[in-house]
Amino acid sequence: MSGKNEQNHKHSEHKIINEYKHDFQESTHKPEAGDTRSSFSNRIGFVLAAAGSAVGLGNIWRFPYLAAKYGGGSFLIVYLLLVISFGFTLMVTEIALGRKTGKSAIQAFSMLQHKWGFVGIICAAIPIIITPYYCVIGGWVAKFFVAFVTGQGTASAADGYFNNFIGGTFSPLIWFVIYLALTCVVVLLGVKDGIERASRILMPLLIAFLIGITIYSFTMDGALEGIKFYFTPDLSKFTPALFLAAMGQMFYSMSLAMGIMITYGSYMKKSDHIEASVKQIEWFDTGVAMLAGLMIVPAVFAFSGGDENAVNAGPGMMFVTMPKMFTSMGISGNIVGAIFFLLVLFAALTSSISLLETVVSIFADKLRISRLKACIISFSLTFVLGVPSALGFGKLSMISIGGMSFLDMCDFITNSVLMPIVALLTCIFVGFVIKPSTVISEIETNGIFKRKGLYIVFIKYVAPIMVLAILISSVMNSLGLITL
Ligand code: TRP
Repeated sequence: MSGKNEQNHKHSEHKIINEYKHDFQESTHKPEAGDTRSSFSNRIGFVLAAAGSAVGLGNIWRFPYLAAKYGGGSFLIVYLLLVISFGFTLMVTEIALGRKTGKSAIQAFSMLQHKWGFVGIICAAIPIIITPYYCVIGGWVAKFFVAFVTGQGTASAADGYFNNFIGGTFSPLIWFVIYLALTCVVVLLGVKDGIERASRILMPLLIAFLIGITIYSFTMDGALEGIKFYFTPDLSKFTPALFLAAMGQMFYSMSLAMGIMITYGSYMKKSDHIEASVKQIEWFDTGVAMLAGLMIVPAVFAFSGGDENAVNAGPGMMFVTMPKMFTSMGISGNIVGAIFFLLVLFAALTSSISLLETVVSIFADKLRISRLKACIISFSLTFVLGVPSALGFGKLSMISIGGMSFLDMCDFITNSVLMPIVALLTCIFVGFVIKPSTVISEIETNGIFKRKGLYIVFIKYVAPIMVLAILISSVMNSLGLITL
């Protein structure tokens, strides 16, 4: 690689993380001589930055409808087991690879082993596909926020409102563009003083709100049925399809298997403990997802009179149920609804900014162009790729494969195909090419690695075999060779 390219890469790569560095520094209390707690404060900074990327629409919008679709408790059990075993293994690996090499995904793999550079390239393709549809859904959130602010909360709770909205021609497109433009402006201006600082206040507020609304949803008639449904496993739902969905959700929610955590790891201090940080990030992320499910699923039961079919509302679940719940609160519902959608908007923005930034740095690096140019290219590409997702429920609904809308298709290709492939390759790479000891020594630079045994078994055998089995069965299923 030429020196110039490397410089360019460094420049754009630094941009995003500078914000986080800034955050780390802010949260670091100045150590006194001999004070050993400074690294602890650093760790909090890193954990918050990583959690900001992880907590987003995946937790509040995607998790509840998947949990409902796959039989409540059955999905929760599989998801939790995957998070503490597979998710833990992969997040530890990505952060350690990043910190060891000091590079982002594209370079980290090739630096460790030239032939494996292609994994970094697959990683790069993933945010390019996710960002457009993420922004389409971000647009839906923005639309509902404005509806509640302008006092149209009750109207938005009416049956068919959501479907009419996403089935329209101009409205989903306009809201998508507004949301994308907002994301792009922040990426261009840099998130330093605004959004990251704001998210430190807004994220805890979001959690407080989730708890408050969850308690409210429990008080509704029929909610108990929903709580039971949410926690009771439905044995008939334990299928490979559930495993694939739970695994895809885990990658998505924890921002794994697309190399983003490698970049984050490259800015982690050598003195910070990787294992402890990962545990905190995964509990934070999983906690928010669980809470969101607990808020939405019982409410769906309450409003549908205990109809189990109602939980199959799919991606629209949040947008159909939540407005109904806010309306049931009476006059204050408009205010509560507005605040709720504002907080979700924020959680989504912190994630989409980080996603778009990843896309921008890929172009800036590969094409060796300025950030502004890379931003324009990324905006245009995201717009073009997002149009079929935005219109996929209306004008362009004919673009569908196997009953999936274009948006669902992008979601499926990334979360259920590309991300498992990246995860599989990462496991093989670490397990057999550079060997687990490379990662372990990075983690043990400061302290013991408690789950070392689990880590080695997982990265070498359990994880790759599991992903491969699920991947093959799902591909055979989609080719019609087997029926799951
Ligand atoms: N984890 C994010 C969410 O739950 C989505 C996401 C996946 C993401 N990969 C990412 C966000 C990379 C930022 C960077 O919504």
